[in-house]
Amino acid sequence: MNIEICLATNNKGKLREYREILAPMGFLIYSPSDIGIESDPEETAETYRENAYIKALALSKKVPYPVIADDSGLEVNALGGFPGLFSSRFADSCGGYPAAYEELNRRLEGKEDRSAQFRCCICYLENSAAKPLYFEGICPGYLLEKAHGSNGFGYDPIFHSTEANADFGTVDEETKNAFSHRSKAIAKLKIFLAINGSSK
Ligand code: IMP
Repeated sequence: MNIEICLATNNKGKLREYREILAPMGFLIYSPSDIGIESDPEETAETYRENAYIKALALSKKVPYPVIADDSGLEVNALGGFPGLFSSRFADSCGGYPAAYEELNRRLEGKEDRSAQFRCCICYLENSAAKPLYFEGICPGYLLEKAHGSNGFGYDPIFHSTEANADFGTVDEETKNAFSHRSKAIAKLKIFLAINGSSK
């Protein structure tokens, strides 16, 4: 029997990644739009965890299934972890990702440390009154001085993954998923679900 879970995103890439990993275990993953629901709360918190919880809780109040939500970002160490939680909003404020790459590089001028990481935090909520559970993943690397390749999304074209030994803008989805922050967090969630299933 399939166990149903709702994922708080309508992003097709994310949905595919969660499904690829969890469907073989018997989990049926719905997006909000699959079941005719809209949920887009403001991400006003100061941590990835809290933002993931805000998204999970808002959706959980609308659906009869356990819910998964995640929040992620790029952290540049020499910039104190910026843009971090503001990754998406920073790109918007620059006028798009290519301009954001340039602005990050401008802020890094003269700095030797170009190390950075993507971070992902997943929140799993059994129901809206349940205690949230969190699963995190980190993808270490450094910022390239120039965008390289156009694969992936967001900051991928200026990110070199040290574990993949590759520029994320040049790798296919399968390679990125083998090393990404999100896939590492999902792998932890998978272990939890394999052990605990879902009480629904
Ligand atoms: P969200 O967790 O989907 O809200 O993503 C936040 C933002 O972080 C994205 O819009 C991107 O700017 C950045 N980001 C998160 N994960 C990745 C990734 O895997 N590659 C590139 N950028 C990412």
